[in-house]
Amino acid sequence: MKQGFEKYIPFVPLKRPRRSWPDKELKQAPVWCSVDLRDGNQALVDPMNVEEKLEFFHTLVDIGVKEIEVGFPSASEVEYDFCRTLIEGGHIPDDVTIQVLVQARPHLITRTFEAIEGAKHVIFHFYNSTSTLQRKVVFHTDVQGVKQIAVDAAELIYDMAQPVIASGMDLRYEYSPESFMGTEMDAAAEICAAVLDALHADAAKPVILNLPTTVENCMPNYFADEIEYFIEKLPGRERAILSLHPHNDRGEGVATAEMGLLAGADRVEATLFGNGERTGNVDMVTLALNLYTQGVDPRLDFSQINRIRDVYERCTKMKIGPRQPYVGELVFTAFSGSHQDAINKGTQYMRQSGSPFWEIPYLPIDPADVGREYEPIVRINSQSGKGGAAFVMQQNFGYDLPKSMQPEFGRIVQAETERAGTELPPQRIFELFRENYIAATAPYQLLRHSFAETVEENGASHVRFTGTLRHTDTVFDVTGEGNGPIDAFFNAIHGQKMDRFTFVDYKEHAVQSGSDSMAVAYIQLRDETGRDIFGVGMDHNINLAPLRGILSAINRAWQTRHRG
Ligand code: KIV
Ligand code: ZN
Repeated sequence: MKQGFEKYIPFVPLKRPRRSWPDKELKQAPVWCSVDLRDGNQALVDPMNVEEKLEFFHTLVDIGVKEIEVGFPSASEVEYDFCRTLIEGGHIPDDVTIQVLVQARPHLITRTFEAIEGAKHVIFHFYNSTSTLQRKVVFHTDVQGVKQIAVDAAELIYDMAQPVIASGMDLRYEYSPESFMGTEMDAAAEICAAVLDALHADAAKPVILNLPTTVENCMPNYFADEIEYFIEKLPGRERAILSLHPHNDRGEGVATAEMGLLAGADRVEATLFGNGERTGNVDMVTLALNLYTQGVDPRLDFSQINRIRDVYERCTKMKIGPRQPYVGELVFTAFSGSHQDAINKGTQYMRQSGSPFWEIPYLPIDPADVGREYEPIVRINSQSGKGGAAFVMQQNFGYDLPKSMQPEFGRIVQAETERAGTELPPQRIFELFRENYIAATAPYQLLRHSFAETVEENGASHVRFTGTLRHTDTVFDVTGEGNGPIDAFFNAIHGQKMDRFTFVDYKEHAVQSGSDSMAVAYIQLRDETGRDIFGVGMDHNINLAPLRGILSAINRAWQTRHRG
């Protein structure tokens, strides 16, 4: 590739002494128009059949798209038939407008009018190419030549539309100067103004001027300059609804749309997940959810994004990449330990603070808002830190491990990921927790016990513990007294082989286990060498859970010592 770049002609940006769009903010959703069934469809290896198009159409309606380009009816029988099926089958809700595309050519325009007969709301969309390059290498004409094509078509469409409108159809017009991005802006404004005149556009009946980046060949800031300049030059801006139709050749379609809206556009033509010619059209889902995560109502419903993805993949036979914004399989997954930690802290912060705002690092959107679950957010692999496993225990199973215990459990999980050589699903993490802590019931086991509690006049409590323990085959009785059940139990086992531990800390909470609620107690002991050891006990009885936790810790220490 060393010298290849020299053959490319760089885009020449407009000279703008002042621009105002960079200081603007997006505060409301644009008018959305889906071009999935036309631009998206024409770019498929296997274009959709009528049934697939119908399913797709209904999905778009469910999402809340009110303007839907349904095809290019004069291009083929399938396209024509689909348009007729929609109209004759009563598939179009009253608040939805269908849009049909046609080239600026008389016989195709006539056929398109036949295709829309009987529809209630229609956008009649015509186009011709206006760019410098297309004029030079395809049409061998000048600006006046392409302007004439557009005006002739506009006049014909206007004339043919009058009886149709008189018969009751709500028919609007849309014109696209195809390859607008590569057209001189003065020429684009001149052509569009002539089209507006030919269509008798006014503020009460504005015409949609759709300004495509048919091939995206400049940076989005240059495009925004073009839009701002075009608006300045267009006589009677109020006669037009300015629409964008970004493609994605440079991978900047979303930025182009967003900056184009800042520069003054009102409407965006887009497709779900960015399907479309070559690198695709701009992705409606990303655009809408970008607005949503800035606190702006996109007026589209992506609350069941997986369902929409399934329809899309089935109908188009295209696959959505695992990192596609907002929908990809991996977009709510954090592999890095520090990310997991931060997510964990953010979740805790939200719970404790009761914040009405979404304030979780690394998750720009609440997965639940798009119908995704927390469950797959964190997967544990050998790169995950201590916080990751604790997060899964908390999020998936409701166990709130004390901070001091997290490194130890993190190491257990880490060792397992290294052994397995793969990431661990949440269920496996829970098993490790159970196997290592709750199931540490040997060699010491509590067989029977009773507590006697006395509460003094001054409120001081005194507990006497009596119990029978088993150590492998030996059964023995112990008694002890203390100011609470844990203290009494600890004193009871004093003098046994278990007394080389001191009690450091404990934490207890309720956890749902099936339809039951159980107490779970996390115990931290320290041995004579200063090493901390943790145990976990569970029981329906909140006094018993910590005792099981103490024995779990002692048993784990014993197992480490005897089994290494
Ligand atoms: O990309 C484009 O220019 C188009 C037009 C037909 C609107 O799809
Ligand atoms: Zn297009």
